[in-house]
Formats: sequence, C-alpha cells, structure tokens
Amino acid sequence: MRCVLVLASGAAWESEALDRLRESAGIVVLKRCVDVDDLLASAATQQADVAVVSSDAPGLDGSTVQTLRRHGVGVVAVTGAHLREDAESRLARAGILATVPDTEVTSLPATLLALADAQVTVPAPRAGTLATVPEQPDAEAPTGPVQPGRVIVVWGPVGAPGRTTTATAIASELAARGRATLLVDADPHASVAQHLGVQDQVSGLLSAARTPSPVQAERLASAARAVGDHLAVLTGLPRPERQVEMRDGVLGEIVTELALTCDVVVDTGSELLGPHALRDGAAGMTLEALEVADEVVVVGAADPVGLARLARGLVQLRETWGETPVRVVVNRMRSSLGWSRSDVASMVEGFASVSSLHFLPDDRAAVDRALVAARSVAQEEGSALAGGVRELVDALHPETCRVTTKAAGWPRFRRRTAGTTRQP
Ligand SMILES: Nc1ncnc2c1ncn2[C@@H]1O[C@H](COP(=O)(O)OP(=O)(O)OP(=O)(O)O)[C@@H](O)[C@H]1O
Ligand SMILES: [Mg+2]
Repeated sequence: MRCVLVLASGAAWESEALDRLRESAGIVVLKRCVDVDDLLASAATQQADVAVVSSDAPGLDGSTVQTLRRHGVGVVAVTGAHLREDAESRLARAGILATVPDTEVTSLPATLLALADAQVTVPAPRAGTLATVPEQPDAEAPTGPVQPGRVIVVWGPVGAPGRTTTATAIASELAARGRATLLVDADPHASVAQHLGVQDQVSGLLSAARTPSPVQAERLASAARAVGDHLAVLTGLPRPERQVEMRDGVLGEIVTELALTCDVVVDTGSELLGPHALRDGAAGMTLEALEVADEVVVVGAADPVGLARLARGLVQLRETWGETPVRVVVNRMRSSLGWSRSDVASMVEGFASVSSLHFLPDDRAAVDRALVAARSVAQEEGSALAGGVRELVDALHPETCRVTTKAAGWPRFRRRTAGTTRQP
C-alpha cells in the first residue's frame, strides 16, 4: 500500500494524475497539498510514504527532499520537458526516488507501486551508528527511538570571519543540551581538528567519502571521532587538493544519512558559486552542504571590510539560493568600531531579509582560552561570547532552550579518543 501526498502547484497534469492514482488498487491519495509548507506539514504527521511533486514547484529544493526523507516520505517528481538537465541531476542527488515526464502521468501508479518498501520507509536507527549507546550503561539515560536531526550549515565570506569558531560553538552547545551532534569539517582548508584538539592523521571526511554508495550510517561510524558525550567530529581534508577524492554528491549523501540520527553542523569554506556553476574547485563541497541545509548561518566580521564582504555574500547567497532562510552572525563586535547593533542591523536588512541577526562579541581572551584548552568558545562559562552562542542556538533550536539535562531519545556518543587536550 502506498499512501501518497500530491504537490502539483497548479500543473496541468494534476487532474489526470489524481484520477489514475485514485483508481489504482494499492494506492491511497491522502492529500493534495497547496505548497511546500503544506507538504512538509502533512509529511510530519508520518502517515504518508510517497510524495508526488511537480519538479518546478516553488520552494522545492534539495533541503525539502531531505526533510521529506527524514519523515519517511520518498519523493517522485513529475518533470516538464523544459526541466534542465542540471536541475534534474540536482534533484536526483537530493534523493528523489524517480522522475516521471508530465506527458506520461498514466505511468505514475506503476512507478509508485514498483518502488521497493525499503526505498520509501524511513531507516530505523541502527546499532553501531554514530548515535550510539554510552560505553558505561547509565541508569538515568533515557531510552527510546532516536529522532532525525537538523542540518545547520555555517558559511561566511572570505577573510576568516569566524566560521569555524561559530560552527564548533553551535555544535558544542547543541551537544551540551543533550542533542547527539556531529560536526563536519567541509572547508577545504580544514581547521576543526585544530580548534578541538583532535588528532586527525586520518581524515574523517575522506574515510566517509570512501564508503560505497549508497552511503550508510553504520559505515560512517568509524570515520567520526568522539570529542564529548554527545559530540563527534568528522575531520576535514589534509590538503585542499584532496577534494578530488570527494566524488560528486558524496558530501550531501554523508550529511543526509547522518542527519537521520543526529544533528549535523557543517563548517564550510568561503567560496560560493551558483548551483549551475561548475561544481569542482573549492565551492563544490559548500554547494553540496547548502543543498541539504535546514538552516544556513552566515558569519561576517563586524569591521568595515568584514561587513562589506558580508553584504556582498548575502546578496550572492540570495541570488544563488533564492529562498533559503538564513541567520546572520556578526562576529567580533566591539565598541571601538563606533557602530551600534542597530546600525549593523539596518545595514544587514538593507541587503537581505534574514530570519534572525545575532552578535558575538570580540573576546580574544575567551577565544584564546578555548583554543589552548582545545574546546569550543561555548564552553567558556561566564563569558559574553558563550552567552551569545546560547542565544544563537536558542534561535536555531528553540525546543532545546530550557533543556539542561539529557533530552529524551538522544543517546550519547561513545568517547573513543583519549587525550583530546592540546599539548602546550
Ligand atoms: N568572537 C571572537 N573574538 C575574538 N577572536 C575571534 C572571535 N571569533 C573568531 N576569532 C578568531 O579569529 C580567527 C579566525 O576565526 P575562525 O578560524 O573561526 O575563522 P574562519 O572563518 O573559520 O577562518 P578560515 O578562513 O581560516 O577558515 C581565529 O584566530 C579566531 O580565534
Ligand atoms: Mg575555518
């Protein structure tokens, strides 16, 4: 039995498709959805197992497909003749199960019924995945199903505005709130390992990328390094040139698979090109991460050069990624610059409509303490920087705001590494 949601967005094929689906044994049309938000809300009720969507439905992107997948809803796209090849391959990479030309909607029921059950059911968390059980059984640790997580991609323009500092802080704060969290270093000029004092003779990302397709969480487990009870890291490339070993689409696959069982925070490089641009070079991994992001956090430096680059970056992001909601972090804010938060807010609002704007103070002492101790700035108790990170994570994950103990259903990572403290 296939329980189906339909999002046709006014396409001409809708009525014939609905007739064919409704008259087919083994198919139940649960709902005609009016837009992507309606589709996602319907999918969240977990009653459907397939969504039939128009490939050019407004707002339908890789992130939508991934979110549907996390709700256990496979996606079949009805495509028009005008669909560009690159758009089709992007949808395929995002995890669309099948495409049906709009001239052949009579074949939709057969396509849906031919899908294997395994393709359209959400994978259950498996033993030995990244979200694994504590090494020491903990009587107080809650049990229950592991829930799918969110993908938070941290990007920022060139000039070291603080992407890695922010990404490690978000990941560490989420972990401190009991969310099983994986931090992925997808910046070709990797540095997460240095920030967190992880010995990375072996690149976690390259190990993960070598797992055969389709990527599966069990196989990714050995590539990640635990750095805390709920936090693990997929370390980055040893050198930017090693990107050639990342086959096209593999980062998106890795992140999507991991997000089935934990929150994933991705630190990216500064290069940003449009989705139709050549995918190789430094932008490839950033683009793949953005394609599967639930949230994009854009980090800019508070000084004149940093703000100018931030403004350009926000425009570029809007031009290339359209509706993707972004949160902006203005980092290293300080009074000596001579502008207030509201001055900066007016500037940012002039360039982009953002979901929220956050400020992190310039605090060299707190950052140095964190770097020397190989921990994130979120762990610098009592610092204004840690306070700013908390507010940011409150906005990213409102449901964790008041959670100070382990959240139900989120198991710990097994700590496998010893000596994650940096040597003086
Ligand atoms: N809020 C802050 N206060 C003081 N120093 C900071 C702050 N945030 C970041 N820094 C410092 O700025 C430098 C760059 O930070 P970070 O490595 O996070 O930037 P990045 O954008 O990831 O840069 P890269 O291009 O090297 O990847 C580091 O030395 C870091 O310690
Ligand atoms: Mg960095």
